[in-house]
Amino acid sequence: TDRPRVFSGIQPTAGSFHLGNYLGAVRQWIPLQESHDAFYSVVDLHAITVPQDPKALREATRLAAAQLLGAGLDPERCTLFVQSHVPEHTQLAWVLNCVTGFGEASRMTQFKDKSAKQGVEGTTVGLFTYPTLMAADILLYQTDQVPVGGDQRQHVELTRDLAQRVNGRYGQLFRLPSAHILKEAAKVQDLQDPLSKMSKSSSSPKGIVWMLDPPKTSAKKFRSAVTDTGTEVRYDPENKPGLSNLLTIYSALSGLSVAELEEKFDGQLYGPLKTELAELFTEWVTPIQARTREFLDDPAELDRVLATGAEKARPVAAETLTRVHEAVGF
Ligand code: ADP
Ligand code: NA
Repeated sequence: TDRPRVFSGIQPTAGSFHLGNYLGAVRQWIPLQESHDAFYSVVDLHAITVPQDPKALREATRLAAAQLLGAGLDPERCTLFVQSHVPEHTQLAWVLNCVTGFGEASRMTQFKDKSAKQGVEGTTVGLFTYPTLMAADILLYQTDQVPVGGDQRQHVELTRDLAQRVNGRYGQLFRLPSAHILKEAAKVQDLQDPLSKMSKSSSSPKGIVWMLDPPKTSAKKFRSAVTDTGTEVRYDPENKPGLSNLLTIYSALSGLSVAELEEKFDGQLYGPLKTELAELFTEWVTPIQARTREFLDDPAELDRVLATGAEKARPVAAETLTRVHEAVGF
């Protein structure tokens, strides 16, 4: 295929993805299956940079894969695999670790943030080298574009730097990837604390919409979302962060622009917007949940799909790794 290659990964998480994960990341992967040669991975190696329960991790990995398939990834049209099934990722990561400066890795803002939260004793070396593993994920597949949210831009920049360094030192081994920052990706805020992004570590359970919760539960969260005390349905993230977030979500789910929504709800109070959004969400999420459940209810089929994905990914990864190992002197 002469379509550009994309690689993207998502970590398995206990429980389901939340709406922010879906609208900010996963959703953009689906159309890329048609236009690109897409490699998608459930990156379970990245997950153990923080403590994990083995049984829970295994379940989370399968759950993530089922949700990606439920969301519309088609194993016939993309390569979907579990990162740990392709050992070349860790093998290339080691080589990349050995060309990465300590200072360079220390400047990664995500590491600085996460390690500050966990403290020196709670921070693993794996968390520190997370970005070189991510670089390996990308470079193994001779990736052209990496569809990511803005928060991953720095890691993709590091990946490019490492690729250029290795190519300069050892010859042309890697294609130079670029970040494909997802423009259409909606940034979803917490429904109870609309100044913070919706996150699995949100402070209020009512602020997070889980993709696999009963739709009734989520509908209730939309109806009780925090908004300002005004009455005008207008997109204004600074003064009306809660309402603006609801408009963003509504727009992402309906395909209507925010301007069209302002017009639709002109002269109405917030109630109808919340109620309609709750209904829209229910209608939208129901078939996604049904497809996800099909895969969860058929573990043999899910295993087969993931084994096939790893079989497709491995030769591509192995070709790159073999050339790298030869170039390095192994
Ligand atoms: P969390 O913040 O809940 O821990 P992750 O960091 O695991 O989520 O993010 C997984 C993916 O989902 C990333 O690509 C990230 O950019 C995206 N993402 C996470 N939260 C949001 C959000 N609130 N809005 C948009 N995208 C999000
Ligand atoms: Na996060």
